[in-house]
Amino acid sequence: MILQRRNRILRQNAAIRAMVAETYLLPHHFIAPLFIIEGDNKTEPIASMPGYYRHSIDKTVAEVKELYSLGIRSVLLFIKCDDALKDNTGAEALNPSGLMQRAIKAIRNACPDIIVMTDVALDPYSIYGHDGIVDGTAIVNDPTVAVLAAMSVSHAQAGAQFVAPSDMMDSRIAAIRTAFEEHNLHNTGIMSYAAKYASCFYGPFRDALDSAPGFGDKKTYQMDPCNSKEAIKETLMDIEEGADIVMVKPAMPYLDIISKINGLVEVPISAYHVSGEYAMIKAAASMGWIDENKAILESLTGIKRAGASLIATYFAKKAAQLLNENL
Ligand code: PBG
Repeated sequence: MILQRRNRILRQNAAIRAMVAETYLLPHHFIAPLFIIEGDNKTEPIASMPGYYRHSIDKTVAEVKELYSLGIRSVLLFIKCDDALKDNTGAEALNPSGLMQRAIKAIRNACPDIIVMTDVALDPYSIYGHDGIVDGTAIVNDPTVAVLAAMSVSHAQAGAQFVAPSDMMDSRIAAIRTAFEEHNLHNTGIMSYAAKYASCFYGPFRDALDSAPGFGDKKTYQMDPCNSKEAIKETLMDIEEGADIVMVKPAMPYLDIISKINGLVEVPISAYHVSGEYAMIKAAASMGWIDENKAILESLTGIKRAGASLIATYFAKKAAQLLNENL
């Protein structure tokens, strides 16, 4: 047989494959989400996220040091708020000595070189488990945005280098940027959850923080999985309003969205490989149906190849270990 093109030439051995590989994963591309609880020396398992834990601040600090030593350069903080402190206005979110604010300070003190990012939304603080203030059955936009801006200022004043608003209220990025300017917080970044879908894949996360919506769902603020134009509109608006990094969430069911946005924007794109995506890999691996380590690296590579330069993933530590071993 005489063939003009033998595509397998470029796949014939590991050295050639590495030479022509277009996509690389590095530990500093990963953002490690961390769940924080009150107490000392406390670690709690999360039933629907096997191998992932909630930690008290002291344990979180130890974890952050380990992540840093593996090459991870950013963490994204979530707190589990005591039920007694929840209300409908997010008052505890603004407490300068709240769990989030204390965690930010502790991490910045112990590990000043890691980038601290914080989740900004009301759901962990809400008696209704919604991301905004509830009036009747509505999640009201403008009063929520005012609290989110104040919450962002509070996180930044505690030392957060990026806030990550995950609420999908209209105009919150503009409000946060303006609030930062007004408070002389000129170096605090905003990683907006620009294209966040109303997804079933957040289920395990809501177990982790006990933050499932008490009534209804999040479809009046998070996006409809049927739509992609809306994702572009949301993303372009967030950039115009002042977002430094834009995020697509979840990751794997929305690779087309990452790819489309990648062709359009000139800011870094992050993707959130969410709790349900983590749980699926863990579950299939625990049954012996897939190879966990290979599934992790293949998933993260796919997300990166689609156009995300950063990936928030519960596999950050594991993936960093695997990458370090293979060097
Ligand atoms: C809260 C928030 C959620 C996630 C990140 N921030 C849950 C939700 O919107 O209900 C999901 C993360 C995950 O599933 O890993 N606003």
